[in-house]
Amino acid sequence: MSEKLHPVTPEWAERAFVDAATYDADYARSIQDPEGYWGEIAKRVDWIKPFTTVKNVSYAPGNVSIRWYEDGSLNVSANCVDRHLATRGDQTAILWEGDDPKDSKAITYNELHDQVCRLANALKARGVRKGDRVTIYLPMIPEAAYAMLACARIGAVHSIVFGGFSPDSLAGRIEGCESKVVITADEGLRGGRKVPLKANTDAAIAKVGGVDTVFVVARTGADVAWTEGRDVRYEDAVAEASPDCPPEEMNAEDPLFILYTSGSTGKPKGVLHTTGGYLVYASFTHQLIFDYHDGDVYWCTADVGWVTGHSYIVYGPLANGATTLMFEGVPNYPSTSRFWEVVDKHNVTIFYTAPTAIRALMAGGEEPVKKTSRASLRLLGSVGEPINPEAWEWYFRVVGDSRCPIVDTWWQTETGGILITPLPGATDLKPGSATKPFFGVKPELVDAEGKVLEGAAEGNLVIADSWPGQMRTVYGDHKRFEETYFSTYPNKYFTGDGCRRDADGYYWITGRVDDVINVSGHRMGTAEVESSLVAHEKVAEAAVVGYPHDVKGQGIYAYVTLNAGVEGDDALRKELVAWVRKDIGPIAAPDLIQFAPGLPKTRSGKIMRRILRKIAEDEFGALGDTSTLADPAVVEDLIDHRQNRR
Ligand code: PRX
Repeated sequence: MSEKLHPVTPEWAERAFVDAATYDADYARSIQDPEGYWGEIAKRVDWIKPFTTVKNVSYAPGNVSIRWYEDGSLNVSANCVDRHLATRGDQTAILWEGDDPKDSKAITYNELHDQVCRLANALKARGVRKGDRVTIYLPMIPEAAYAMLACARIGAVHSIVFGGFSPDSLAGRIEGCESKVVITADEGLRGGRKVPLKANTDAAIAKVGGVDTVFVVARTGADVAWTEGRDVRYEDAVAEASPDCPPEEMNAEDPLFILYTSGSTGKPKGVLHTTGGYLVYASFTHQLIFDYHDGDVYWCTADVGWVTGHSYIVYGPLANGATTLMFEGVPNYPSTSRFWEVVDKHNVTIFYTAPTAIRALMAGGEEPVKKTSRASLRLLGSVGEPINPEAWEWYFRVVGDSRCPIVDTWWQTETGGILITPLPGATDLKPGSATKPFFGVKPELVDAEGKVLEGAAEGNLVIADSWPGQMRTVYGDHKRFEETYFSTYPNKYFTGDGCRRDADGYYWITGRVDDVINVSGHRMGTAEVESSLVAHEKVAEAAVVGYPHDVKGQGIYAYVTLNAGVEGDDALRKELVAWVRKDIGPIAAPDLIQFAPGLPKTRSGKIMRRILRKIAEDEFGALGDTSTLADPAVVEDLIDHRQNRR
């Protein structure tokens, strides 16, 4: 691994909010006195009723309870919008760049306030009350941010479903949190292609029912099916609603949103985040890690369907009064220069994207980047998966002209905000390392038995104490929350990631150690893909693993056992890929399918995934012990017919 060091430049040490000495001192304080530290930091948001208790947390087995600022009250929408009106009402809050380069618009804080209040009243008019769940299934248009903030304003709990998910995935998520209201659009637009969001919503509701209102934004103006009484034209509802909507007083621990994410078993879980701690953490990390100053133009390329979009397109930046760019399109449309053209068009100063995008663009060479100026850029960020040192260096040298520090930010849907990251004025960078813990974050490495490893070591990454942005529960299933995160290593939060710490105390995330894979920065449970495959009439059994993929980070490798008499050929491969795409969404489509007459199982019938992973990685020389297999001969056949030959 590269151990090249990029030291903090004097200019950055000078200009940034945090320099190295401050980091050391404040980090020590944040760990020694979390209550004092987080009590002070929380003053950055406006409270309706100030809190008197900062932290009330138990990680004890059977009694996990996480509460921050629990007797305080506030409103997230008031913090993200209203409190900026006096000083920056005419400043751009959201800079929207459409899929088509000709489409863009700037929304000021005043306009944002008007839109959010009107939509909040429109939701109320359809019976939405504090605590009700609202599902949002929208493309990357400003209405997505309006919808989030309108829910927050009236105390409704939003659940955003990524626009790339299928009707069935949407149905599961509507049903999971019993939403009666869905906010969608006629169609989405990505890379010039249309996504039938309204038709998908209709199909989802036909499956699960329970929805009495569907707000439909006219994005493309397509003629879509209409259910009278249930479907509401978003534009009409907003135009008719009053622009006056006082924010609801919310307790710090009232739910803000649910976001479904994949785990190693079963259906996706509803990660629940609450109001006070989440907002404090999202806004504080956004300001310090991206070194956001007034006048910056900040662009995070994520989708609001993922946690990155929640914390670092909408809540963190808007709580800080920032100008946040929202991009509807894709990196390679109309050309592979698009990202950099957008940077030049809007004078973006801070740019935050995923390694998969960097690797894809890197494959197209330097010219599409170099023909743009990018002179406005100051800071680059990376998120979602480990960034390989080669991609890091290319990002640094070609995109950032060797001028811009890169913050490689490690975190998860569950963590609400960034936990391990460089601070640009404080941390010398090592390409491929997420470097050091953020304030108040106490990472530890443990071995399989839970023994804490000291110094330079490699093990499983746990976090020994809580931070304000931590998820509070799995919606409707607290037992699953405790079992998933707090039972493997009692009294610690288990991340599911493996990690190495070097002699300088830098953290290097090595990837998931459970049955979760990370495909193009999107998280996928192998069990979800397996259950989709076995639902196909020709499939008897399936086992899915990840394998290294040059652009996606990990690809999806499926071993499929067909029913007796069915012939496995390329046509069937295509059919199965299409099946999974339709069932879950394009992000879950297998990259490689191997038809396997048998799978390696122990005598008790458990599939030995370790062996399947090795064969998928084309590393079958290191299969390890196969003597416990019920039928060792199946391994030979699997190796002979492996699909990934490097
Ligand atoms: O494996 C880690 C990887 O992404 C997982 C979390 O995925 P998700 O909840 O979808 O959130 C992604 C965006 C925050 C982690 O368990 N991951 C995320 N960021 C990094 C990373 N792996 C290495 N380096 C990162 N910077």
